Amino acid sequence: MSELTVLVIGSGGREHALAWALSRDPGVRAVHCAPGNPGTSRVGTNHPLDPMDGAAVASLARSLASDLVVIGPEAPLVAGVADHVREAGIPVFGPSGAAAMLEGSKAFAKEIMEAAGVPTADARLCVSMDEVVTALDEFGPPYVVKDDGLAAGKGVIVTGDRDAALRHAAGCRRVIVEEFLDGPEVSLFALSDGRTVLPFEPAQDFKRVGDGDTGPNTGGMGAYTPLPWAPPGLVEDVVATVIQPTVDELARRGTPFVGLVYAGLALTSRGLRVVEFNARFGDPETQPLLTRLKTPLGRVLLAAATGTLADEPPLEWGSGAAVAVVLAAAGFGRESLVWLRRAADARPRDVELLLLLAQSCAATEQGDCARRFYGWAARLEPQNDAAQLGLGLEHLQQGQLDEARVALARAIRAGPGNPRAYEAAAQVERQRGRPPREFAALLQAAGRVARVEQRLEAQVQVAAAAGQTMLAALE
Ligand code: AMP
Ligand code: GLY
Repeated sequence: MSELTVLVIGSGGREHALAWALSRDPGVRAVHCAPGNPGTSRVGTNHPLDPMDGAAVASLARSLASDLVVIGPEAPLVAGVADHVREAGIPVFGPSGAAAMLEGSKAFAKEIMEAAGVPTADARLCVSMDEVVTALDEFGPPYVVKDDGLAAGKGVIVTGDRDAALRHAAGCRRVIVEEFLDGPEVSLFALSDGRTVLPFEPAQDFKRVGDGDTGPNTGGMGAYTPLPWAPPGLVEDVVATVIQPTVDELARRGTPFVGLVYAGLALTSRGLRVVEFNARFGDPETQPLLTRLKTPLGRVLLAAATGTLADEPPLEWGSGAAVAVVLAAAGFGRESLVWLRRAADARPRDVELLLLLAQSCAATEQGDCARRFYGWAARLEPQNDAAQLGLGLEHLQQGQLDEARVALARAIRAGPGNPRAYEAAAQVERQRGRPPREFAALLQAAGRVARVEQRLEAQVQVAAAAGQTMLAALE
């Protein structure tokens, strides 16, 4: 077998586990990580990089003569970074932006499941508080309310408190209210080349922050594998009823899923149900799973990336058990903002840190805080398009249209490749009551940029739909 050079994108414990497993594969000659972390530097070579910058990822992969790129986290996948690498002619383990919507939009995942006949919780997509109230009362407690979008496991609440459910919904743009699923949860991963799938052994992770499974949800506090209590035939069942039909449905739509399908399942009293899909290796399940995987990892990831999984035998597993426990700073989760604030106090001119802080504020619906830190970053670095865009979006949300307009114009000037800036600018013009041709041009620009950039096809659709609605309203 040829000797592979593999580039792993990401900086977490999951990427350390991937790099570690790849470094033990005799068919892998070199492991590179970008940006990596102190753990990955012990099993490979780290390179500084913004994982969200598709062109930069493709260019690094080319300069390292990579035979395979493995993209760890969801945000770059949803942003279409794998598309850039694939277009550069380099095999990549990770779905296209369009296929990653399986994780990027819970509403899209529900649509795919419905089309493929995959069992999941009954759910209502709500865009107004009236709809939320109706749905909550229809399903009754315990209430399950989910933000429709990427939220790193923090966009969901499960609560018996109707007011808490309503408060959570009020902070989201589009909300999914669903039936409560009883029974234990299982995470099942499968490699997919777009047609053939190769399942892992199951694992279980624990999402609540506190001991004894208490407190708010996180992305995962610990995991173990195997699951001696799992019913026999579980893996075959999940492949046949969940994973294969989902992969087939995505292929049928012309957006084949190449990468890792993560099915989060509940084994309920009424049978198996999908809780969520992720479009990437789970964190922390990957860590214990890869310590038990005996099949060389590089080989099967390359087979998935190049469409030859049908030729691979089933994955082989060691007989032992493995556990991962996440060690986190006190206040992990929402309160990590406190830590970030302290870091920003200590390094007040660190724009990256300010942006991280601003994004964390925005993700936890703290608009004033987000605006302050975006504004601070934008003052330090007026050419920083992420800072200007964040600032513009926050002003827009508060109805501060003049301020939004200035910041968005700067965002477009500094980073003309981002369709969101045009969309937001168009929204500002509409709210300011400007003539339709002004923002129609902006929307066309958004669509054009999105197409040129080959980013999320969904973004083009959103821009086109928004444009039609706005024009219809003005005609
Ligand atoms: P999600 O982001 O959809 O994976 O949800 C995060 C966590 O919330 C899941 O791992 C479950 O622990 C819990 N959860 C989500 N949906 C439901 C549901 N319908 N019923 C019960 N618990 C749920
Ligand atoms: N451990 C849950 C996740 O990776 O989303």
